[in-house]
Amino acid sequence: MSQLSTKHLLGIKQLTEQDIRTILSTAAKFKEVINRPIKKVPTLRDITIANLFFENSTRTRVSFELAQKRLSADVINFSSSSSSVKKGETLLDTVNNILAMKVDMVVMRHPSPGAPHFLAKHIDANIINAGDGTHEHPTQALLDAFSMQEKLGDLAGKKVLIAGDIMHSRVALSNIFCLRKLGAEITLCGPPTLIPQGIESLGVRIEYNIEKALAWCDVANILRIQLERQNTKYFPSLREYALTFGVNKKRVESLHKEIVIMHPGPINRGVEITSDVADSKHSIILDQVENGVAVRMAALFLLANKGIEN
Ligand code: CP
Repeated sequence: MSQLSTKHLLGIKQLTEQDIRTILSTAAKFKEVINRPIKKVPTLRDITIANLFFENSTRTRVSFELAQKRLSADVINFSSSSSSVKKGETLLDTVNNILAMKVDMVVMRHPSPGAPHFLAKHIDANIINAGDGTHEHPTQALLDAFSMQEKLGDLAGKKVLIAGDIMHSRVALSNIFCLRKLGAEITLCGPPTLIPQGIESLGVRIEYNIEKALAWCDVANILRIQLERQNTKYFPSLREYALTFGVNKKRVESLHKEIVIMHPGPINRGVEITSDVADSKHSIILDQVENGVAVRMAALFLLANKGIEN
């Protein structure tokens, strides 16, 4: 019997609290595996996985590929910029052609919200959403929760600040679903123009003053200003954003408390966060990246519904 309630990982919204806890506890086992001298297990040696990236990525793409290789899966990488998508081939035709070559699982990043959900209605293979537009980025939220748990223990009652461009952030939405299911308290902070109306209905509070928000939280997840998704001006200038909402050394040092600083990357250094904070002892940004491999191994392993052999 499958250990997850779902065949696909389309979003955190569709996962139960138990699914999330199963993925996080499995990731802890895989973290131990990837810290051994021999980092590889044969678990998915009979599985072929296609990584379909229709949008740029560094961390997620490399992390999925590494996770798949650590599990001994066969991997094919597809990038839309060098494919027949450029000749007008549809998403469904592209995917069906790849699946015809006996592919078992699809990891997909796509600029359109809902693209992996659409695919799930039309194909048999397991699908993992590696980020769909401004909608969800489930494995990022899972690795964020895993990294928070490593620092803070169980997240029930822990205070998490998510600050920045909430409006355009799939990381924000997936984090909100994930952390609420794990019992954390969440405050969002950013310019009013970058906080979606009615988002309080997801069980979060809003604070427009970054200093008060930082003083409240145990952990601050700072998000990138996504200029590439902003087709209008949401704030006067990057300089003003940095002055009003940026997380800098002065703001962090004035707290006189332990605080965990996170960022999903890529970072706009000097805008939402300064280098002296991103690279400080408070920051677990590179731990997030390391944990991403273990969390993705767990997601792939559980969706493939295999037993651990080594
Ligand atoms: N955090 C994240 O999704 O980074 P990439 O866009 O580089 O994959």
